[in-house]
Amino acid sequence: MMDMLPKLGAEDTAVIGVNLPVLTARLRHLQDAFPEGVQHSIAIKTNPHPKMLEFLVSQGFGLEAASIEEVRMALAAGCSPAQIVFDSPVKTRHEIREISSLPGMLVNVNSLDELDRYDSGFKGILGIRINPQVHTGAPNLFDVSKNESKFGVPIDIKEQIIDAAIRYPVQALHIHSGSQMKDLNIQRGALKELRRIADTVNSVSPRKIKILDIGGGLPTESLDEFTRMEAYGQMVREVFRDSEYLIVTEFGQWVHAEGGFAITSIEYVLSPNKVFIHLGADFFMRDAYTSSRSFPMSVWNGDATQLKGEDRAYDIAGPLCFAGDYLGHGVVLPKGIQEGHYLFIDHTGANTYALWSRHCSRTLPATWAWNGNSMVKWSNRSTIGF
Ligand SMILES: Cc1ncc(COP(=O)(O)O)c(C=O)c1O
Repeated sequence: MMDMLPKLGAEDTAVIGVNLPVLTARLRHLQDAFPEGVQHSIAIKTNPHPKMLEFLVSQGFGLEAASIEEVRMALAAGCSPAQIVFDSPVKTRHEIREISSLPGMLVNVNSLDELDRYDSGFKGILGIRINPQVHTGAPNLFDVSKNESKFGVPIDIKEQIIDAAIRYPVQALHIHSGSQMKDLNIQRGALKELRRIADTVNSVSPRKIKILDIGGGLPTESLDEFTRMEAYGQMVREVFRDSEYLIVTEFGQWVHAEGGFAITSIEYVLSPNKVFIHLGADFFMRDAYTSSRSFPMSVWNGDATQLKGEDRAYDIAGPLCFAGDYLGHGVVLPKGIQEGHYLFIDHTGANTYALWSRHCSRTLPATWAWNGNSMVKWSNRSTIGF
């Protein structure tokens, strides 16, 4: 992957990379973990690069859109409306008119009030997002199922959900319990409750609920051993056994995190141990402002040979004028890092490019994709929003 270094110009201080073989293996693993016929619509917000969306669609995957802009991006990437899920919590009447003619698109309402905004011209599939009010161990900031969450209709007014699902042209129910769920047993309870509600609606109005969208929410993991994703797939198989519901998922970071990498040139190494690089709180925004993930890192010479040798602890500082702009403190890397070397940062595929910040107005680096043989340029570096 370092064979693209000679192709970089003087202004390419960093590169965003996509590892297509890794990404493809994860997509296959996801498919294999779940029963056949499950529709996987990958969360656009995790990595919205237009070429990435085209790649996911070319592999037969659907897309989950959190805004009308993301719906338009999904369509531009060639995704069929029937494989798009539209989950914005603040859909305007204007946006609803725009998507109304798209056949088969799953549109999940965030509240029962939203149901009144759809008229008989709506050609999509209407779903109700339910807040399962469970605590799966998701970090506080990403726990969308708290009692006071702004997402979905709280399950403790189940009778009203059932009543609305019967009275309105609702054909789907949806939960997304939160990102980085730790306790799958609690999620099992949420899935069972989702099925119970759907079964209750269908006992009154046969076959009314056809789709159950169970969201995303698994943290990334390596595929070396029996995976949590496989365990989750088995759980889904058990909970929805002997039912005819079409199951939809919306995974984001589990799919993308390990399928991305970044390369930055090393600009300064200041005594005793401070390394300045060209990606910071702009690319690693979530890490800088919440808590940093531990990305595997290695150091490379300009001729694409890896720097090896005795270890040393470094503080890795980003390029922004902001005191919190560190990728890590005490990061162990080989001794002898100097200007002209490159830092390779792995597993950066999720919630990085997607959250690019314009703080300090730095240029968004070019994106390159590794296809297993060579690096292919997906986009040029660009200034954004000017
Ligand atoms: C509605 C919805 N679906 C799916 C996702 C993707 O979650 P994850 O990346 O944890 O799989 C999110 C993340 O915010 C979400 O809000």
